[in-house]
Amino acid sequence: MAGGPRVFVARVIPDDGLRMVIDACDARVWEGELPPPRDELLRAIEGCEGVLTLLTDRVDDEFLDRAGPQLKVVSNYAVGFDNVDVAACTRRGVAVGNTPGVLTDTTADLAFALLMAAARRIPEGDRYVRSSQWRTWGPMLLLGPDVHSATIGIVGFGRIGQAVAQRALGFGMRILYHDVARLPAEVEDRYGARFLPLEELLAQADFVSLHVNLTAETRHLMNAERLGWMKPTAVLVNTSRGPVVDPKALFEALRDGVIFAAALDVTDPEPIPFDDPLLTLDNCLVVPHIASASRATRGKMATMAAANLLAGVRDERLPTPVNPEVYEGR
Ligand code: GLV
Ligand code: GLV
Repeated sequence: MAGGPRVFVARVIPDDGLRMVIDACDARVWEGELPPPRDELLRAIEGCEGVLTLLTDRVDDEFLDRAGPQLKVVSNYAVGFDNVDVAACTRRGVAVGNTPGVLTDTTADLAFALLMAAARRIPEGDRYVRSSQWRTWGPMLLLGPDVHSATIGIVGFGRIGQAVAQRALGFGMRILYHDVARLPAEVEDRYGARFLPLEELLAQADFVSLHVNLTAETRHLMNAERLGWMKPTAVLVNTSRGPVVDPKALFEALRDGVIFAAALDVTDPEPIPFDDPLLTLDNCLVVPHIASASRATRGKMATMAAANLLAGVRDERLPTPVNPEVYEGR
């Protein structure tokens, strides 16, 4: 068994990253396919100097209390960190890391795949063929909106939102965006993107793709009222976080034809219960939170999360800290 700082790794991650941790630390790795149950997680982190968490592990005061005052770093294997109470970590001098950048294009690829699949009704077509319903070429069969030349509204115009815009450009789409503030002209010019208030973006877009962080402000951002602003022909794509969309309001909007279709990589809760009403709708496509799931990207996320963990336990600055303020006054 290796010596070195004691760490807990909350799931088996790709080998490149896992090796780095095991070689340098006294590491315990949760081998289960499912996340560690809360009580097991809390027991496993006791006395650790570093913990490598996933978005399924909640890091809050209880977690930090149980870990103990020697805890130096929480390295989240994700770009999103809504599972981590960052302020609580900062108060205790615990550095938090995430994995930005490496998953941008892979996530944008999936957002675009969902957009196209929902518009062109790919899952429905596949189900149609497999259930022996295909009799002939049908003039009215499985019609949907065009993707090319349509208007896309990107909500949250950060790294991933802009990568979606780049793809949309290739399809000759008109690009609208909304964010907390207007972006510099050079960013807008790169994509020919136009800033609009959310209400106007929703009213004009044929496709709405969500790329915001989950915060108190963005929880249920897409509620019944805002879904109502969308066109009845429009498609909603969510690869951000499930709670950004009110699931009950989405169900009603899809059922009642308020919007044409939705494609979700994320749901609220996750996993979505198999008897969730959304799964009864043909115009709702759901995949199991796989936006970053390319072999290459998950490998890069693993080395990045490992590098954050190792820097943290060595009292070095994390390569990609979420709370750089933790270093102020050190
Ligand atoms: C996945 O959802 C991530 O935040 O990396
Ligand atoms: C369709 O396959 C066509 O040839 O129009």
